[in-house]
Amino acid sequence: MKVYVAGATGRVAHELIKDLVAAGHDVIAAARTPENIVLSDISDAATVQDHVTTVAMDLHGSVESLAATIGTSDAVYFVAGSRGKDLLQTDAFGAIKLMQAAEKQGATRFVMLSSLYSLEPAEWERPGMESLRDYITAKFFADHYLVTSTHLDYTILQPSNLVEEPGKGTIEIGDGAAMTNPIPDVAGTLAALLDHPNTVKKVVRMGTGPTPIDEALEHVE
Ligand SMILES: NC(=O)c1ccc[n+]([C@@H]2O[C@H](COP(=O)([O-])OP(=O)(O)OC[C@H]3O[C@@H](n4cnc5c(N)ncnc54)[C@H](OP(=O)(O)O)[C@@H]3O)[C@@H](O)[C@H]2O)c1
Repeated sequence: MKVYVAGATGRVAHELIKDLVAAGHDVIAAARTPENIVLSDISDAATVQDHVTTVAMDLHGSVESLAATIGTSDAVYFVAGSRGKDLLQTDAFGAIKLMQAAEKQGATRFVMLSSLYSLEPAEWERPGMESLRDYITAKFFADHYLVTSTHLDYTILQPSNLVEEPGKGTIEIGDGAAMTNPIPDVAGTLAALLDHPNTVKKVVRMGTGPTPIDEALEHVE
């Protein structure tokens, strides 16, 4: 597939691009400053040259400008985010415009990296979530739009805390999932979603666990 990754300079995106290329996909890596996208360890130089294209993209731009960067992509990933600095324009409306751009271009598969409980405001009363309230509200609006106002074949992946630890290649899906997620396992799960049509139109909660990623995704209902 031709796969578009928004937020390509990010920590998750870096691992995701690596996994997508390893799976045989062609990747359009989109970032505000494409020269900052690290490609040196994605794969060998020839593979990167043949299978990764970088493109300048700013989520502040118009739907039309975003659509132009998506081109003929089959699938679009939103793994961008403003780290709390620009929640309305990037995490919320930037994501929504990218959905509109994907639909405009006929890219039907859309994978959203979201956050635990993004669509369940009642859960935001939990201890530890106070400081995340503005962030999770932005994610709520983006995810809610994706579910209710698009025809995209979406998957919303909801990890909790991302940690910079080596991946295990195993995860757990569902309510009992643990509260930390090594970034390589989140990226590996995101990439593997493309091979699991049963995850379309699903909100998938994940954490660390004992189940190999593909096996865990096979059981998403
Ligand atoms: N931290 C957690 O524990 C946690 C937990 C669950 C989910 N998440 C979600 O996972 C996402 C990815 O995490 P991460 O650690 O990979 O994030 P990251 O390293 O901060 O990367 C975020 C990316 O978004 C891009 N971006 C920011 N504003 C943009 C704009 N206006 N237009 C285009 N691109 C823009 C940044 O690009 P520039 O190089 O241009 O700045 C960067 O590439 C987070 O944003 C969050 O929504 C995080």
